[in-house]
Amino acid sequence: MTDPAVPSEPEPEPEPEPESEPEPEPESESGSEPTGTLGHRGDGAVRYGLIGTGMMGTEHLWNLQHVDGAVVTAVADPDEAMREWIVQAAEGTEVEQPAFEVFDDHRALLASGLVDAVVVSTPNFTHRAVLEDVLAVDGLHVLVEKPLCTTVADCRAVMGLAAEHRGVVWVGLEYRYMPPVARLVTAVRDGEVGRVRMVAIREHRFPFLAKVGNWNRFSINTGGTLVEKCCHFFDLMNHLTEDTPTRVLASGAQDVNHLDEQYDGAVPDVLDNAFVIVDYAGGARAVLDLCMFAEGSVNQEEVSVVGDLGKAEAFLPSSEFRLGRRENGPPGVTAATVTDDRVRYEGFHHGSSYLEHLDFLAAIRNGSTPAVGLDAGLASVAMGVAAHRSIEEGRAVELDEVLADGR
Ligand SMILES: NC(=O)c1ccc[n+]([C@@H]2O[C@H](COP(=O)([O-])OP(=O)(O)OC[C@H]3O[C@@H](n4cnc5c(N)ncnc54)[C@H](O)[C@@H]3O)[C@@H](O)[C@H]2O)c1
Repeated sequence: MTDPAVPSEPEPEPEPEPESEPEPEPESESGSEPTGTLGHRGDGAVRYGLIGTGMMGTEHLWNLQHVDGAVVTAVADPDEAMREWIVQAAEGTEVEQPAFEVFDDHRALLASGLVDAVVVSTPNFTHRAVLEDVLAVDGLHVLVEKPLCTTVADCRAVMGLAAEHRGVVWVGLEYRYMPPVARLVTAVRDGEVGRVRMVAIREHRFPFLAKVGNWNRFSINTGGTLVEKCCHFFDLMNHLTEDTPTRVLASGAQDVNHLDEQYDGAVPDVLDNAFVIVDYAGGARAVLDLCMFAEGSVNQEEVSVVGDLGKAEAFLPSSEFRLGRRENGPPGVTAATVTDDRVRYEGFHHGSSYLEHLDFLAAIRNGSTPAVGLDAGLASVAMGVAAHRSIEEGRAVELDEVLADGR
């Protein structure tokens, strides 16, 4: 995806830099009366706070502006330019929304009583600390951007707090919501390919873009590329196989990108290409083929699932879905372009952020279990950690080892 500053996951076209936008307006006045207590507004809208107003904060703002029953009432970002940017971004769309309150500290936003739910779109390394504050507010709902945290230990700490928390806790692993991928999942669940034996995910794309403060140039901040962005793909593997990953074997390196950059004298250390093989408890296997210097690709993502009866594939951004049965051979392969009529705003991520928000909002209203919860967040981080360890130590790494030592 993209960032106004950096594309990272299901990125589409490079986004405009916030800094390059028109002159910002002064901070807005609050459009909502503080209620002092959590609860939906009288008109039934759920009040959202955005913590972090960079690329993903902007994506969430613009998506929420198109979601019936949602209203953004507050935002927080310690960076003044980003606070100015988000006010400008809110006013630059065709959707009329009440103004929101602007805070320079997420704790002030949390104390304001202005929000029923928050979306955490801050740098990966801040997720644990921000979530500790969020989960201290009784009844507050939260969608935290992926990766849940940068380490297994941090994920577990957050999960411990969430276990005592009243409110939906959702992890923004949104690839499942991309229409051709959702169609692929349906085909698999309907038994169209038979018993899933192999999942292959290829992401061939452009390098990481620049982020606010260049936080994504160093693995200590991101968790490493295989955590930072590839948690999306590990989650998808788990979702497609409906099984437990047991072992990871990976090869990868930083061979091309960012080697000519320096920040405070340090050269970035972000891996830019890898192969990762994952074994599942039930015998299925999956592979990730990641290349971040592959701008010369028609599709950025290709997802294939092969079972004992057939094969299904999804492609992004072409939105193509293909399905074939073994007995029908190549002439029997069907192809279709998949869209979802519910999507009222495509955003940076092919409508997946919008669909994710519909489900998050439904979970808030119904008090239902999140479709993408903390277990999925932990598993996807642990697989990325295992893949990095496999590369560093030149061996296959058991998931149990990573989950046990919590690094
Ligand atoms: N779902 C996806 O596909 C997707 C795509 C890109 C990024 N992300 C994730 O979204 C998160 C944000 O990434 P981004 O691309 O928007 O980065 P960004 O650098 O564009 O924006 C991050 C913003 O967070 C702000 N910030 C830092 N600490 C904060 C705090 N304590 N409280 C409030 N704001 C704070 C920064 O000032 C900055 O404005 C990351 O976790 C990233 O991995 C997800």
